[in-house]
Amino acid sequence: MSLGKYEEEAIILARAQLEAADIWDPEGDLNSLVDRFIVRSDKQRALNEFTLAVSERCSRIPLGHILGTVEFDELQLVIGSGVFIPRPHSIVIHKWLDGTELATGTRVLDLCAGSGAIGLAIARRRPDLNVTCVEFEEVAFSYLKRNINRLSTKQMHIDALQADVRDKNAFAHLSHKVGLIVANPPYVPQHIQLQPEWSEHHPTTAVYSGTDGLDLTRQITALAIMLLTPDGWLVIEHGEDQANAIRDLFEKYQLTEVRTVIDRDASDITGRSVMTVGRLLNNVR
Ligand SMILES: C[S@@+](CC[C@H](N)C(=O)[O-])C[C@H]1O[C@@H](n2cnc3c(N)ncnc32)[C@H](O)[C@@H]1O
Repeated sequence: MSLGKYEEEAIILARAQLEAADIWDPEGDLNSLVDRFIVRSDKQRALNEFTLAVSERCSRIPLGHILGTVEFDELQLVIGSGVFIPRPHSIVIHKWLDGTELATGTRVLDLCAGSGAIGLAIARRRPDLNVTCVEFEEVAFSYLKRNINRLSTKQMHIDALQADVRDKNAFAHLSHKVGLIVANPPYVPQHIQLQPEWSEHHPTTAVYSGTDGLDLTRQITALAIMLLTPDGWLVIEHGEDQANAIRDLFEKYQLTEVRTVIDRDASDITGRSVMTVGRLLNNVR
């Protein structure tokens, strides 16, 4: 599409505004905003919508919340204010899954599921698994249900459960029935000052978790011991500097085959992609 004089002027102004607002990838964000609000919009409304979107981005509203969608593992997820924006990092879990044997029908839990990115991508890659996505926040849960309704196919087995992972009673019906638990929980220590996109425009409960960032990870590990079948896997995403603490935690619960995986291909301003995996051999409680 060829742009008119006004569009070109608006884009030059937007580039200067995004740079002045300290956006870490002004050109990348500009391209996404031009594509969404100018190229794909009808010409009358295009400039107004584009100008509004640029000013929202300059006030540090996350790009994903402005665009309303994000692509994750070939899935186009609907997102918006109040729900965590899936990050490319989580693909580390799916790469691990591709190299791991799991029997057809294995029950999988995606804890702290947010918009459902991780659970849906598992169901897309392995429609023979039974995936349940667990989320407790009202807004996030509504996006989760919406994405499952939009993106699941007849071949997939995937549903959503609104529950708090700290409440073991809510999971009693799944005791010793789950073959794989994955989680990208909130893991930022509460004293860390993040960019406004996370500190101001994401729910605190989606980002922070106690003084060392691992409060919820500890709860999830304890819950996993109750839910996993012998041989069941626990996979948790975390910050790179938390790897030793997580391996210690897994070993305290007598998980075996514990290892941390760093995916050097997936990283962004928040850091590199890191997960730790462990396996329950004997069902020790
Ligand atoms: C870092 S976000 C990850 C979301 C999603 N897994 C993803 O990667 O896009 C963490 C999610 O955990 C949810 N959460 C936080 N505390 C929770 C709890 N106690 N029980 C269930 N979900 C929780 C938050 O609402 C948020 O959606």
